[in-house]
This record gives sequence, C-alpha cells and structure tokens, in this order.
Amino acid sequence: MISDRIKRMSPSQTLELNAKVAELRTEGKSIIALNTGEPDFNTPPPVIEAAHRAMLEGKTKYTPTPGILPLREAIARKLLKDNGIEYDPSEIIVSTGAKFALSNAFQVLCNPGDEVIIPTPCWVSYVEMVKLAGGLPVLVPVAHDNRLDVDAVERAIMPKTRIILINSPNNPTGAVYTEISMRRVAELAIKHDLFIITDEVYEKLIYGTTPHVSIASFSPEVWARTLTVNAFSKAYAMTGWRIGYAAGPKEIIKGISAVQGHTTSNSTSFVQWAAITALEECDEHVEFMRKVFEERRNYMFERVSKLPGFNCPFPEGAFYLFPDVSGTFGKRVGDRVISDAPALADYLLDEAGVALVPGNAFEAPTAIRLTYSNSMENLIAAMDRIEVAIAKLS
Ligand SMILES: Cc1ncc(COP(=O)(O)O)c(C=O)c1O
Repeated sequence: MISDRIKRMSPSQTLELNAKVAELRTEGKSIIALNTGEPDFNTPPPVIEAAHRAMLEGKTKYTPTPGILPLREAIARKLLKDNGIEYDPSEIIVSTGAKFALSNAFQVLCNPGDEVIIPTPCWVSYVEMVKLAGGLPVLVPVAHDNRLDVDAVERAIMPKTRIILINSPNNPTGAVYTEISMRRVAELAIKHDLFIITDEVYEKLIYGTTPHVSIASFSPEVWARTLTVNAFSKAYAMTGWRIGYAAGPKEIIKGISAVQGHTTSNSTSFVQWAAITALEECDEHVEFMRKVFEERRNYMFERVSKLPGFNCPFPEGAFYLFPDVSGTFGKRVGDRVISDAPALADYLLDEAGVALVPGNAFEAPTAIRLTYSNSMENLIAAMDRIEVAIAKLS
C-alpha cells in the first residue's frame, strides 16, 4: 500500500524522542529534557498582541501564496540591514517554517539522481527531504573541531552534483562557519556551476567572535545561485507559529510558490502580520534571549567538558553542545554495556532521567546532542544527575 518513496524515509528521531519523553512523564518519571530543538522562552508579548489584533481585524482569510506584501517588504528590509543582501519582495516567499521552505526548495531544484552535498553532522530533516525530492544526499563530514572542511566538499563534487547545503550556525554542532570558508564554498559553486542553499535559522544566536555571514551577500554572481532560508522560530521563540521564509532568484521562488500553492497555500494569515512586529519591534527581546543562552552555554560547556569520556568542541552559536562520547563506549555498569551513543542516551534517560539525542540522528554516530534551551535550575540538576550516572561507568 505504501509507496516506495515513503518506505525509504526514516521517521524524525528527534520527534520520536519527544514522544518517548512525554510518555515517561505521564508514567510519573521526572525527566529533564535536554533533547528539544526550540527556545524555552515564550514568544515576545508584542508579537502575541499583534496576532490578536490581526485576528480581531479580520485578517483571517487566505493570503497570497508567497505571503502578504507588507511582510515580504519587511523581510527584504531585514535581509538588507542584517545580511547585506538585496531582494525584491517578489524574490521572497513566506512558508510554514523554514522546514517547508527547505523541503519545497529541494522539490524545485532536484531532478532524479541529482546529488546534494550536505556537511555532517547535520540537522535531521535534510537527508529525508532530499530523498523525498528524488535527490541523492552526499554526506561530507566536517573537520574534527566542527569547522567546515571545504577541501572535503570539493572532493565530493561529481558530475551529478547540483546543490551544496550550508547551515551556520549549525544544528547540532553549534559551529559558526568563517567568512573564509564560506567564500571558498561560493568559489566552488561558481567554478562547478552549483546551487547553494543556506539555512540561517540560528543567525541571531551567536556568542563567539565569529560573525554570521550570509553567502548570498558576496557578489551578484553568488546571489544568483543561492537560496537564503531563515525563520522566526529560533530567533523570536516562535517555533509553534510555523513561519519562515526563503529568498532567492525569482524563477526559484516562483517554483517554490507553485509547490506551496498546491499544498499548504500560505502561511497562517494573522501569524504573517505578527511576524512583521517580530522583525520590527523585538530586537531587545532577541538580545535578552541571546544573552541568557550565552550564560547557559558557558555553564554547560564547562560541566560537559569535565565528564570522563566526553570530548566537547566549543560551540559559538545555536543552543546545542555536541560532544564526542566515544570515550564512554565499552564501559559498563552491572550487565549494561555502553556500546554506542544510542546506548549512552538510553542509559542517561533510564538512570539519570535526562533526555539527550544520540548523534546518529545527525549522521554523527559517536556524538550526543545536549540542548541548553532550558532553565538554569534544570541545567544544573541535569548535569548533577549526568555526572553521577557517568561516574558509575567503569
Ligand atoms: C537547522 C535547522 N533548520 C531548520 C529548522 C526548521 O525550522 P522551522 O521551525 O522554522 O521550520 C530547524 C529546526 O529545528 C533547524 O534546526
């Protein structure tokens, strides 16, 4: 009954883990969830008020497929001010989250068998999105310190290569790619006539000295072969509102619009109006959240780095730590053997009541992802519990 295309898909491991945590909690277990991929803050009040206002004003009908013009104009202003990229509103489409914009982009850009280079570790959905679009994901590991390995990217370029995907700041590693490496990727794209998709959803969450750079800003030539994807989810704590966008050459935006027009039509009308308020009135809220995340990142990095068997690269952005945990493999407690990252994650869930995501979900089987998007109180408790559980391994 099920199509071969869907049979080849793997379910989202992060969403499955969320369901497991919910189940354990209904059984009465105390679980600290360091597995989530969203800010723990509530959406800034001005955004909520703007959505309420829009609903009362009757802005509750279908909108144009690519989104209301005032929002696309506001996004164009944002992309110019923050990212140094010029887009006309007709070169922007608003979608139900960055996820849908990305998924549609692969549908538009991939012919059967086209290869998409994805640096790994990578966000869980890219591989499945590419497969669903008939493309072939080509996974290229980053360097050991999570820097983008542009030489490895170049070596992976083959006659069927069509797209290079970049995600900086990165989920799950928290790495922020340098301008030098981005410029080299841009040169490769021009030299080999490739398209670039850049996922910049964590752009506002940077704590280090490496600034965010948008690859499309480098030159008109790079602009013409880049799709810039961003969202309101992470920066404005709006994950549940489901709103993001893509900006790029008109022909590609038209293609994405065609897919969207026949699937979801448009992003929710009053959410689009509220998103304008997020862009124009919420800088202080974003900066407040960024600072809190930075404090938590510092605390968690210090604690995680001290865990025996954990080797944690220093993350400069997003809200994740992604230590290599292969130093724990082969250790045991009683009959239980920590054979791999999923076994470690299971052990920490059972023994410490802390939920973490094994790196397999991100194409990095020797690592584990911890989210520090949680209260300081919970982070301290989680680290105390993890420390005790790890100390029992020998
Ligand atoms: C790297 C990355 N891109 C895209 C998304 C999806 O964002 P949205 O919630 O806007 O669909 C996520 C969400 O976890 C992400 O981590």
